[in-house]
Formats: sequence, C-alpha cells, structure tokens
Amino acid sequence: MSSTLFRTKKVEQSILDTEEPEHALKKSLSALDLTVFGVGVIIGTGIFVLTGTVAKNNAGPAVALAFVVAGVVCALAALCYAEFASTVPVAGSAYTFSYASLGELPAWIIGWDLVLEFALGTAVVAVGWSGYIASLLDNAGWHLPAALGVRDGADGFGFDILAAALVLVLTGILVLGTKLSARVTSVVVAIKVTVVLTVIVAGAFFIKGDNYDPFVPKAQEVPAGDSLDSPLIQLMFGWAPSNFGVMGIFTAASVVFFAFIGFDVVATAAEETKNPQRDMPRGILGSLLICTTLYVAVSIVVTGMQHYTDLSITAPLADAFKATGHPWFAGFISFGAAVGLTTVCMILLLGQTRVFFAMSRDGLLPRFFSQVHPRFKTPHRPTILLGVIIAIVAGFTPLSELAELVNIGTLFAFVVVAIGVIILRKARPDLPRAFRTPWVPFIPILSVAASLWLMLNLPTETWLRFAGWMVLGFVVYFLYGRSHSRLGRQQEAAAGQATRPPGGGTEQ
Ligand code: ALA
Repeated sequence: MSSTLFRTKKVEQSILDTEEPEHALKKSLSALDLTVFGVGVIIGTGIFVLTGTVAKNNAGPAVALAFVVAGVVCALAALCYAEFASTVPVAGSAYTFSYASLGELPAWIIGWDLVLEFALGTAVVAVGWSGYIASLLDNAGWHLPAALGVRDGADGFGFDILAAALVLVLTGILVLGTKLSARVTSVVVAIKVTVVLTVIVAGAFFIKGDNYDPFVPKAQEVPAGDSLDSPLIQLMFGWAPSNFGVMGIFTAASVVFFAFIGFDVVATAAEETKNPQRDMPRGILGSLLICTTLYVAVSIVVTGMQHYTDLSITAPLADAFKATGHPWFAGFISFGAAVGLTTVCMILLLGQTRVFFAMSRDGLLPRFFSQVHPRFKTPHRPTILLGVIIAIVAGFTPLSELAELVNIGTLFAFVVVAIGVIILRKARPDLPRAFRTPWVPFIPILSVAASLWLMLNLPTETWLRFAGWMVLGFVVYFLYGRSHSRLGRQQEAAAGQATRPPGGGTEQ
C-alpha cells in the first residue's frame, strides 16, 4: 500500500501531459509578465490592511521588522520554489513539484492545502477590497446598509455583497482567458505601485520622531483563559500569553506573512510561460525583492505618521493621512488600494483554478474539471465552480481569522517544497535545472525551520482548523483520488502487460 501512496509522477510525464491538446494551456508569459503578475498579487490586503492591525495589536513600529522576518522566510522558500519551478514547468505549483518528488499522497496533501490557501486568500482579499470601496462610498456620502457590508466586527446576520460581487465578476474575466487578465493586471499593478510609492514619499514629510518611541513596545501579558487565541509556541512551552516585545515581532511576522503570499502563485503559471527555465526564477525572486523593500518602507512611514496605538485597523494607510490632515491623499490611496486589491483577488483565483485543474488532470479530482474551454482555452469548469464557492465564503466570513488559516496552509506548503528540493536532487540528479538552489541541503533545511517557526507563532485555534481541513482532505483522497489516479491506472495497466504471457498482448 505504501508504494502506491508514494508513487511518483515522472517529471517528463508531467511535462508531456501538458502537451495533450485538450489539456493544454497557452504559453504566452515572459519574465516581465511574471514579475508584474507577482507584484500584482503580492501587494494587497497584507500591506493595505494588516499593517495597522498588527502594529496596533502585536508589534508597534517594529512591524517593519516583522516584514523583514516574513520576507526572509519567503526568500528562503523562494530559492526552493525557483528550483522546482524551473525543473518542473507545469501548472499546479507545489502540488506538481511534490508529485514529482515526494509521491502521490504528499502531493495530494499539498494540493488540498493550496486549495485552502488560494480559495480563502481570494476571500480575504475580496473582503479587504469591499472595506475600501465602502469607505470610498462613505466619502461620497453613500452608506451601504450594515447587513450588506464587511462582516468584521458586524453584528447579526449579513452578507458582504461587494466582496461576493467582485469574486463573481473576476471569475467571468478569467473564464474569458489569461491574456485579457494579464493585460488588465499590468495597468492595475501600475496604479497600485504608484499608490504605495505615494504613501512612502508623501508620508515621509509627515513623520514625527516621537511616534517611534518605543520602537519595540514592552511585552504585555494578555489575560489567560483564551489560550486557543495564543500562539501555539506559547502554549507548548507554557509561557504566559503575551503581546509586543521581541516575541510580538514574531507573532506579527506570522500574520503579515500574508502580505507576501503570491510569489508562489507565480510558480503556478509555469506552464503558461514561454521560457520557464530562465524566466521563472527571475519572476519569483524579482517580485519578492521589490515587495519586501516597499513593505518595510511603508510600515516605517505609517508608524511614523501616527502613534501605533492610534492606527486604524480597517484602512491604516489612508487613515494615517486623514489623521495628519490630508484627506485628499487619503481618498487617492483608498481608490488605488481598491483598484490594486482587484488584481490580487484575480490572480489568487487564477492560481486556485490552476491547482484544481492540475489535480483533476491527474485524476485525483474528477476529470470533468480538466477539459479546457474549446474557444477560450481556459479551465472554465473549476474556475466557475470555485468562483461561486469563494463568493459565498467571502460574503459570509470576516477577514481576520481567515488570513491566519491561509498563512498556516502556505507555510506548510513551503515546508514540503523545501524537503522536495532535497529529495529530487537525490532521486533525479540528471534533470536539467535552469536555476539551482544554492547550498543544498543547507538552504532548504533553513527554509523548513524558518517556515515551521512562523507556523508555531500562529494561534492554536488556527492549527486546529488547519488540522480539520487536512483530515477532510485525507477522507476525499482515500474515497476518490486514490482509486481514480491517472498515474495509478497507468501503472496498473503497465503491470498487467508485464504479467501477460509472451505474445499474448499487443504493443501500444
Ligand atoms: N499578498 C497578498 C495580500 O497581501 C495576498 O493581499
């Protein structure tokens, strides 16, 4: 049994599968497209919304350090992702990578985990977008009824109509084709980067040195009793649950980590890249570097403009300008944030459907989902199915806890990818690798340790939810995927042929 659970899909087979015409995606993206794609998805709710929350609740001005910590964890993972993406240039990201190295069950686990990351990530960003739109509407004097607004902090039954509408519209655009969405993406990315640069440059003039005092606020004990809200690491070691201080920086890092999610999505577009061997690593590392620099600058500026205790948790970048008496800037920033979050949402949705598509092509999910649209050449079926589900989730769910669940899922994927790099180097040293992770196995091992460390800094409750999702995944795999696996069927057929008496079978 264990041999079937760990059956691996040959890298060459993964590449061949993408060349079957009814399952083939268009190869049209360059390194620049990928970088734009990366920046397009990376800068989003993390910097626009979570910066304020985390500075206020966990780290104070030291949130800038939390971004550095999270950035380093991602850079280590990116070095591993880049090797995998340039060796296995097939849709599905970490899922495909692990199918080629670790085996079917680990690949399934990762795929299932990525579905969680992208689906909930899309919902988180849609909700963040809805908040900024509602704030713009407020400026214009139009007020949405509370029951139709963001669910965070809202009472009673309600449905976030704007978030759900955004997801549905983007689903439609994705069904029409990647080319269209890539073009729209570049315009929107330009607007988003302009807004972020405006915050940095204009905001720098309104910094007050006093606001950085203290830069790392003293650790404060939080009331015991609600231990499931505390980081798992505090529970494990029996530490008194606390916020701020040095440990607060790590708690903050495990949350703002959300701001970096997306560079791994670039890897999911490998199959649609003209020269993945060369362009993938460039696209991934380039977009990560740009974003880390911008995040650190933005958080230093914003915590300098307003004391961390006064920061807003819904629209901190815009509200810091309001607080310093510059509402015009605030309006511009809210507008740019709303526009920018649109692409983030769209690309996460795209990554999501591509993973689902790859899993279905392998037979682990029904093959019905892997027929591409005859005219648009897009995987329209998973796109529509998941789009509708995500719209419903986005409509009903508050943002904050979802983001932590997305983070734990993503960090877990990083762990598996890093281990996969080491295994694939040993199992298939012969494969051409356009990009090689430096200092293997040192960097992958460091990447595993760093990702695990951030995971341990997430709340115990998040761990429990994540465990629940993974258990569900096991049930689906053992009830469906294992017996429908395309690889499994091919191997069974090959074994059948091998045991037939000589001359009894025909060569295919
Ligand atoms: N990194 C993306 C964001 O911050 C997902 O919204």
